[in-house]
Amino acid sequence: MPLPRLELYPQFNVTRISHVVLTCRDLDASCAFYGDVLGLVVSRRDHDSAYLRGLEEACHHSLVLRQSEGAAVCKAIGFRVLTDGDLDRAKEFCYRNNIRNEWRETPYQGRTLHLIDGSGSPIELCATMETLPRLMQSFDKFHGGSPQRLDHVQVTAFDIQAACDFYAELGFRLTEYTARDGTDELWGVWLQRKGNPHDIVFSNGRGPRLHHFAYTVPEVRDLIHACDVAASMGCASRMERGPGRHGIGNALFVYFRDPDGHRIELFNTHYQTIDPDDPPIRWDLTDTRRSQLWGLPATRAWFVEATPFEGVEAVEPLLQADPVTLETFLANQM
Ligand SMILES: [Fe+2]
Repeated sequence: MPLPRLELYPQFNVTRISHVVLTCRDLDASCAFYGDVLGLVVSRRDHDSAYLRGLEEACHHSLVLRQSEGAAVCKAIGFRVLTDGDLDRAKEFCYRNNIRNEWRETPYQGRTLHLIDGSGSPIELCATMETLPRLMQSFDKFHGGSPQRLDHVQVTAFDIQAACDFYAELGFRLTEYTARDGTDELWGVWLQRKGNPHDIVFSNGRGPRLHHFAYTVPEVRDLIHACDVAASMGCASRMERGPGRHGIGNALFVYFRDPDGHRIELFNTHYQTIDPDDPPIRWDLTDTRRSQLWGLPATRAWFVEATPFEGVEAVEPLLQADPVTLETFLANQM
């Protein structure tokens, strides 16, 4: 299957990943986890919603939590576009391509266009959002991992090629990809608009579902401190994977599961990739260095468990190709 053609002048200008909207069953418990344990800033809280942001973010929110009685889901992944005109062009794009979409009134955001992307995931686009002071120099407020900004999301998708082609047409650049050994069959794609390795990742699996969302931290010690704080607050069991270093993206990482099972990654280090002639980096699926440059592979649960999207039925992947899990790795050591 072909890698996507580079689209330097897309039909509308997406600038970056913006926010994630999740439901939770106990808003107090979720706010305690994200605020008191991990260190996100609560911008606004009311009886059934909370809006959080990283310490360096001027935008009102990068994480929205809405209390709900039902199963915890992801309601939408948010992206920013450059101008209101780009929203109009996005609306025309949806019309031309017969993509389901609608304008939605959304608190603290300007005009917001909700649509279904090429993976079947619900996404929303806005050009403006209320702002608040950046707290990156309010060191007295740093806590837990001191998360600075939302950097990317990862989605499990049943058709990686379709997801990749959709975002490539919107100007997203492929920075790294995983293919089944000896083939160009895509197992995972790392796509970006903001000049570092990824705004959104699609990995092969039952989907679409939200696999995780990720915040940057200032320094390596903040990853360790987040783990220590989580342990001291009785949340050690919420640490799912790491710390470790990904081969892909070169990120030091640790993954947590929140009280509803939503997965969040804290990480640092990345590299810049802006020049259009930067070639994408290819990884074989069986090369375990792609997921961890050192350390043990992730558990099977890390690969297969994910958050459903509201109202979206997940389906089995077209490509049947399994990564090396901790369980298979250990079995092969016997
Ligand atoms: Fe990630």
